[in-house]
Amino acid sequence: MTAIEIRNKFLNYFRSHGHKIIPSAPLIPENDPSVLFTTAGMHPLVPYLLGEKHPEGTRLADYQKCLRTVDIDEVGDNRHLTFFEMLGNWSLGDYFKNESIRYSIEFLTKELNIPIEKLSVTCFAGDKDAPRDEETAKVWEEVGMPKERIYYFGKNDNWWIAGDEGPCGPDTEIFYDTGKPACSDNCNPSCDCGKYVEIWNNVFMEYYKHKDGTYTKLKQRNVDTGLGLERINMLLQGKETPFDTEIFKPIMDKLQELAKNDNLESRRIVAEHLRASMMIIADGGKPSNIDRGYILRRLIRRMIRHLNKLEINLDRLKELIELNIENLKEMYPELMQNKENIINTIMEEKDKFVKTLVNGEKELQKELNKLKEKNIDILSAEEVFRLYETYGFPPEVTKEIAKENGFKVDLETFDKLFKEHQEKSRLGSEQKFKGGLADQSEETIAYHTATHLLHKALQIVLGDHAVQKGSNITSERLRFDFSHPQKLTKEELDKVEQIVNEQIQRDLPVTCEEMSYEDAKNSGAIGLFANKYGDKVKVYTIGDFSKEICGGPHVTHTGVLGTFKIKKEEASSAGVRRIKAVLIK
Ligand code: ALA
Repeated sequence: MTAIEIRNKFLNYFRSHGHKIIPSAPLIPENDPSVLFTTAGMHPLVPYLLGEKHPEGTRLADYQKCLRTVDIDEVGDNRHLTFFEMLGNWSLGDYFKNESIRYSIEFLTKELNIPIEKLSVTCFAGDKDAPRDEETAKVWEEVGMPKERIYYFGKNDNWWIAGDEGPCGPDTEIFYDTGKPACSDNCNPSCDCGKYVEIWNNVFMEYYKHKDGTYTKLKQRNVDTGLGLERINMLLQGKETPFDTEIFKPIMDKLQELAKNDNLESRRIVAEHLRASMMIIADGGKPSNIDRGYILRRLIRRMIRHLNKLEINLDRLKELIELNIENLKEMYPELMQNKENIINTIMEEKDKFVKTLVNGEKELQKELNKLKEKNIDILSAEEVFRLYETYGFPPEVTKEIAKENGFKVDLETFDKLFKEHQEKSRLGSEQKFKGGLADQSEETIAYHTATHLLHKALQIVLGDHAVQKGSNITSERLRFDFSHPQKLTKEELDKVEQIVNEQIQRDLPVTCEEMSYEDAKNSGAIGLFANKYGDKVKVYTIGDFSKEICGGPHVTHTGVLGTFKIKKEEASSAGVRRIKAVLIK
C-alpha cells in the first residue's frame, strides 16, 4: 500500500460511516497572524469544537497538512519530520468514546489488516482535574484488547491540548509494536526506545483549559483524532524510517547518486527540508527574517548547508526540486500549480545564502587575523554566535575554518548560548500558538465583520475588480489586501471609510445561512479562494449590504463595531493594495 492509498482508504472508511470529508486547510492559517503554521488537524476546527455549528455537520474527516517546528534540529534521525500529514476524524458533539474507539480499531484491523496483537493502547490515569478513564479502557476490552496491553498514564502522556489554553481532554493513544526487543523489563508504550510507535491519538475533548490553569466543561463532547500518515505508511511497508518509503525514496536515491561525500543524516535533512519548504511556498510562504518566513528561510538554508556537506553542486538544486515535485504531485497537486514559484523562491534564497556564506567567511577571516596579531589562539563562543546571528554563518563551518587556521573554538559555551537562543524562540512560538487558538476575542470577531464591510465598500467605490487577496486580523487592527492597479486617492479612501461607518450606524443584522457552494455563488455571495471550501459553506449576510462566504464567527449586528478608521493604504505587491484599519470604540 502507498501513502495515497492509505489516505483514500481512511477517507472512504469515514465517509461510509456518515462523515463529511472536508478539504485540508492551508499550512499557513488564514486570518491568524498569531499562529505560525497549522500544527494539527484540529487547529482549523477550533471554533467548531467550542460549539460553533459546522456547515458540513457533526461528523467530519480530512487529511491535514501540518508543520511542527520545535523539532527542526532533530530532523536527520530516523523519525523526526517537520512537515507531515495528519489523517483525522471528528465528532462535534456527536459520537464519543465508544464509537470513536470502535472506528479506529475497525479501520486498523479490517481496512489496514493490522493484527490486533501488534497493538497496545494507553488511557488517562486520572487526577484532580478529570477522572481515570475507565470508560475508555472498558471499550478497549470489549473490542478485544487484552487487559495487559491497556496502560494508564498521567497528563504528560494522555492529555491533549494545543498550547496552554483551549479545548482539550484525556486521550487514548494506539501504539504499534515493531517487534524490536524490549529495552528493559519496564519497557512500555511510553518508552522512547523505538519498540512501540504511536500511530493514532483519539482525544476526547470535553474540557476547556483557561489561562489561569482551571478547567471547565465545554458545551459539547467532541472527538478529535490524528493518525500520522508517514508513520503508518512506514510501518505497513515494514520500513525502518519514513525516508525508506515512496514519499522520500526517489529524492534520497538521487542525493546518494549526486553526493561526492555521502552521509545518511545530511540526505535525510535535505529530503525533509526540501519537501517542507515546497509545501510552505505552495501555500503562500515567502522567506524572510521573521516568524513563518524565518522558519522557511531556516529550512532552506539548512538544506543548502547539507547539500554542501554532501558536496553536491548547488546548480543541481533545480533538478532536485523538479524531481520532488514530480514524485509528490499526486499527493499534493498544489505543488504542480505552484511549480515556477517554488523553484524561483528556493533558487533565490539559495543565491542569497551563498552570498551570506561568502560574507560570513570574510568576517571570520578578519576576526582570526585580529586574534593572530594578539597571539590568541581561541575563537570565543560569543564570536561564533555573533557570526551565526548576524550573518547566518553556520557554527560548524566557523569551527572548520578556525581549525584550518590553527584556532581552537569554545563550542561548549557556544552550545549553551545556542540552547538559550533556541529556548527563547521556542517559547516565542508557543506563545504564538496559544494566542491563535484562544483568540476568538470580541475584538477579533468585530474586525472579521468590519473586514466584510470594507470589502464591499471597496467594490462600491473602486469597482468589482477590487477583490480580496489576503486578510490578516489581530485584536488591534485589520489588514486587508485587494486587487487594484493604483494608489487610492484621498477622496476614495474617505468615501470607503464613510460607507463602512454608515453601515455601522445603520446597525444592520448579521445573519448566517448554510448552503452549497454553488447556491452561495448564485446568490451573489462573494466567494474567496474557492478551492478551499467543502460542499457546504456558510454565507454571512450583513443587512442588505454584503453577502460573503466565510467561516465566521461574526458580531450579531454592526452597531457594536464603533468607528471605522483607515490608518494606512500602501502597495502590497504588483496590482495588489493593502489597507490597515482600526475600530475605535
Ligand atoms: N489533536 C490530536 C493530536 O494532534 C489528535 O495528536
